[in-house]
Amino acid sequence: MPTHEHPGLLGVDLAGLALRNPVILAAGTAGTLDELGDVLDLSRVGGLVTKSITPQPRDGNKPWRVAPLPAGMINAVGLANIGLDAFVRGVAPRIGGMPTRVIGSIAGFSIDDYTRVAAAFDAIDNLHAVELNVSCPNVHGGCEFGADPALLGELVREVRRVLPRTRLIVKLAPVAVARPGIVDLARAAIEPPGSSPAGPNARPGADALSLCNTMPAMAIDVRTRRPKIGNVTGGFSGPGVHPVAVRLVHEVFRGVAKATRTPLIGVGGVMTWEDAAEFILAGASAVQMGTALFADPRSPLRVLRGIERWVRDQHAASIGDLTGKVELP
Ligand SMILES: Cc1cc2nc3c(=O)[nH]c(=O)nc-3n(C[C@H](O)[C@H](O)[C@H](O)COP(=O)(O)O)c2cc1C
Repeated sequence: MPTHEHPGLLGVDLAGLALRNPVILAAGTAGTLDELGDVLDLSRVGGLVTKSITPQPRDGNKPWRVAPLPAGMINAVGLANIGLDAFVRGVAPRIGGMPTRVIGSIAGFSIDDYTRVAAAFDAIDNLHAVELNVSCPNVHGGCEFGADPALLGELVREVRRVLPRTRLIVKLAPVAVARPGIVDLARAAIEPPGSSPAGPNARPGADALSLCNTMPAMAIDVRTRRPKIGNVTGGFSGPGVHPVAVRLVHEVFRGVAKATRTPLIGVGGVMTWEDAAEFILAGASAVQMGTALFADPRSPLRVLRGIERWVRDQHAASIGDLTGKVELP
């Protein structure tokens, strides 16, 4: 039986979920479940997030779906995935044997899509957390779930209802400084209007937040004058988004997460241990790595070695003591 209880230097308590360390493989970059296991010892990472699953299988967008850019990559995979039934039948039975924590990612185009997948995920043993990918357009209203606090609050409230056993992580989309800002969206996910906690210790909304998904972007091949990816626009990820994601974590930590004791997961451009450490100081309890895995699938191990050294050098008893400890002027 795999053990995850490592409270030592790098152990993390993510809303009651014990992770052996704070490095998690990001949704959509580590296969559906165990595909990276051939090249990366999964027992060394804190957890992995599955590909986002929708009720029906999806083929995704036409090629090219990904293209390298100088400071990262652009992708428009189009939520290609095997669908809920195939996941429940073919993938879920293997989760208990995984040597790391598995977080099930959910995507959808209506609240009903999300609640169908969430209810099925809640019944899967050993799936200890789900992560909502809210960077999807709502077919009823057009705008993305993650862009409107009222819509996001409604989605989180409905999903929470069908998750009596499983922790809920909401993965926010990056937004600009305009209102509604990231703190408004984070608050809507943590305390959705009209919700009531299921019990004295239960939270009304998200148990944790991840920040953030890819940034809407476009890249053009100037010789052919064609967009670099088939979908024309896509999501930008990698080193170029990192400072933006650090700011979002910092703002949400100060604005709502610290007071409500909601753990944050920093996502975006973690390539080195310094990138991970920045997220921790800005207010994250853990980080996810995505684009880095395409360049070097073993990069999480390098990041972990550096982080461990850093925690010792900072004379901290554990990494959690450094969360949010940026020294502001
Ligand atoms: C090829 C690719 C596929 C992705 N698929 C998903 C997905 O299915 N669900 C999701 O929530 N995020 C998805 N993402 C976003 C990543 O999980 C992550 O939020 C983003 O890439 C930023 O982190 P990074 O800079 O470390 O890659 C995908 C990213 C890439 C590059």
